Amino acid sequence: MVGPKAIIHIDRLLSNFDLLKTHLGQKRLMAVVKADAYGHGSVECARALEDHGCDSFAVFSFLEALELRDNGIKSDILIFSKTHQHYLEPAFKNNLTLNVSSLDDIDIFESHKLSNEKIPNFHLKFDTGMTRLGINISDASNVFERVKRNLGTECKGIYSHYATADEGDLSFANHQFSLFNDVIETAIEKEIKFETIHFSNSGASINLDQSKFDQVRVGMLLYGAYPSSEVPKDLPVEPVMEFCAPLVEVRKVKKNTPVSYGGVYKTPDDCTIGVVQCGFADGIPREWYKEGFVSMNGTYFKIAGRICMDQFMVNFEKFTPSIGEEILIFGKNKANQILMENISETIKSTPYVVATGIKGRTQKEYKF
Ligand SMILES: Cc1ncc(COP(=O)(O)O)c(C=O)c1O
Repeated sequence: MVGPKAIIHIDRLLSNFDLLKTHLGQKRLMAVVKADAYGHGSVECARALEDHGCDSFAVFSFLEALELRDNGIKSDILIFSKTHQHYLEPAFKNNLTLNVSSLDDIDIFESHKLSNEKIPNFHLKFDTGMTRLGINISDASNVFERVKRNLGTECKGIYSHYATADEGDLSFANHQFSLFNDVIETAIEKEIKFETIHFSNSGASINLDQSKFDQVRVGMLLYGAYPSSEVPKDLPVEPVMEFCAPLVEVRKVKKNTPVSYGGVYKTPDDCTIGVVQCGFADGIPREWYKEGFVSMNGTYFKIAGRICMDQFMVNFEKFTPSIGEEILIFGKNKANQILMENISETIKSTPYVVATGIKGRTQKEYKF
């Protein structure tokens, strides 16, 4: 091992998928593999999930969707990003599902339909409180009429997105649910039918009633982390990513030796300081150093001093570890477990930021 490594446990991804499927009953699971599957590798994760029976995926960008198609993914792929006129033709050609999230998007689809017989499939997205992409609910009636009149059967789905579904207080999420419900009622009145209705993300899929919807869009839980500390932790999902790095140097130092930039950490006793080859440029959050720890062969050791760009130091106390030892930064292996959620909570971040922060020289290795 020459540098940081993200070992992706595909077996855990698949068992998390199975756990979620059991939890969700008959509902279809749309695996959210945007942002390189939250840093886990979108092609490899989608391929494994598809072979395992997952038939629906979501990405953010058009290029992410094309990458999946180019790598042989055959299932439905929904693109979350804002739609552009020049997406329509390649989306149709590649059987990709576009997001229609504004009146402008309806205009684009209508004018495309006038000059091309074929338009790609799309899902209508309504804004119920995220205030990001989404048609205003006050436009629902008008939109349904236009869709029915001008765009026909290519409108496959309708959805919205929760802003607070992973919080202990679900009052705003319930408010969003009720607004979305009104939108669905309007669609029923206008006699417009959808093959799929989806609203829930990881938080909602464990926190909120699913009875109205036939599909859920799940990312974080699939990768084995809870979206926040406020959701019930009843599903025994396992961390898919094991982030580790090699020990490249050890030295004995005296009590009160300053370690790393600023000398803000001083050794509390005579001890062994080890240098681990992984820095914030590779994705270990710099803020973690204050309370942070790593694990080696089942024992936890404190990070000593500020994390540098390429390396960080660890206080191994009285141990004398061998150069080349694999140091677990987060995730789970046979002897150790450090949850990404613990790190993100300590540094007042989220597991989404920690997972997608893996970068730099980190090499991915897939375990099946
Ligand atoms: C529109 C949309 N749906 C679903 C998800 C999946 O969320 P989670 O990873 O919490 O399951 C995301 C992720 O941010 C999203 O943007």
